[in-house]
Amino acid sequence: MNKNFKGENKMLNFTFYSPTYFAFGKGKQEEAGKLVSRFGGHKVLIHYGGGSVKRSGLLDAVCASLQKENLPYLELGGVKPNPRSGLVYEGIELCRKEQVDFILAVGGGSTIDSAKAIAAGAVYAGDFWDFYEGKLIEHALPVGTILTIPAAGSEGSPDSVITKEEGMLKRGATGDAIRPCFSILNPELTATLPKYQVACGGADIMAHIMERYFTNTKEVEVTDRLCEGLFCTMLKELPKAVRNPADYDAQANIMWAGMTAHNNVVGVGREQDWASHNIEHELSALYDCAHGAGLSVIFPAWMRYVYKHDVMRFAQFAARVFGVTMDFQNPEETALEGICRLQNFWSSLGLPVSFGELGAKEEDISFMAENIAYGETGIGNFVKLKAEDVKEIYRLAL
Ligand code: NZQ
Ligand code: ZN
Repeated sequence: MNKNFKGENKMLNFTFYSPTYFAFGKGKQEEAGKLVSRFGGHKVLIHYGGGSVKRSGLLDAVCASLQKENLPYLELGGVKPNPRSGLVYEGIELCRKEQVDFILAVGGGSTIDSAKAIAAGAVYAGDFWDFYEGKLIEHALPVGTILTIPAAGSEGSPDSVITKEEGMLKRGATGDAIRPCFSILNPELTATLPKYQVACGGADIMAHIMERYFTNTKEVEVTDRLCEGLFCTMLKELPKAVRNPADYDAQANIMWAGMTAHNNVVGVGREQDWASHNIEHELSALYDCAHGAGLSVIFPAWMRYVYKHDVMRFAQFAARVFGVTMDFQNPEETALEGICRLQNFWSSLGLPVSFGELGAKEEDISFMAENIAYGETGIGNFVKLKAEDVKEIYRLAL
């Protein structure tokens, strides 16, 4: 070790492996067939959701692109938002029976996550749900994606989130094996999105930044500044895209922000939190609401519950991203003003910011809080939380 580096080094050691090939821009879906061939696919399962890709003509364009490359394919549609395990089992069976060797997800985070689950399950002898109970995904069929909504960041992440119908358990699995080998990001494909979905997607992207930003790791200026830059981009571009989902320039910026917010380039070398995501997943599992809508209810409540742990970090966030004047005599005021501005911003976009607006019920609080898997130490890292803390956070969101 070099003796010139004295004292405690604060940025954490890390590895960063993000091998996804991104094809970004207008018309890029026409390259789907070529990219499948390039990444070794011979027989493709096209996976999609409830029909938006049929209505927009995207599915036809993708099929034509595969045909051009002489690639045989099968289709499996019907992925629901908050994707379910039932369709994953169906997809695994189909892949094995038809000897599929490549999965092409055409849609949003739900479709991509379902595709990743099928990809991992198809080459695994046990029950694919093992991965959603903590087993690392080390092998999977290759997955390519064509993204239609900037939100979850699954197009560049090693994660997948699935809901098991029995008990409505919404759980995540991870492993570099399920990072997409390619992702096609064409902002034109987002023009058909309902405004509410644009807003929900934006809230999710902002939450992915904040899960990384609120950290106990010191001296991480580069990732702090990257997070702040991305967050400011969302504050500028998201209202434009919600007003007009066909605003190409706004959607292009949001689409790349959504990928960057979650492939972890802005999160390496620092402890990350993720309690709000865990707390939210109970809402979207129980009420089947959009994940981003659940986050816009939970995140401000989590912030109010934990900000005293590091008031200056919250005050810095408020000053740097919302332009709140720093009150050095009373930084708590600055911190709280930042939380208010975040909540008002989301509210102004038509997002729910309370249980009532989401359709969630106070009497379900205990069930949801106790349904979370806390492990031995609790959820979150900024502040460790147990069921009693989570109940308080839900109550703050009432
Ligand atoms: O199913 P279709 O008909 O395609 O309709 C979808 C769906 O109803 C619609 N939509 C998508 N693109 C469209 C469109 N409608 C018109 N035009 C388009 N271009 O939008 C609705 C929502 O789609 P969904 O895929 O559910 O959205 P999102 O991308 O927000 O994904 C949410 C899921 O991702 C998980 C969430 O928990 C949730 O289950 N997450 C996954 C992560 C990951 N894998 O890394 C991380 C995230 O934190 C998140 O937890
Ligand atoms: Zn999320």
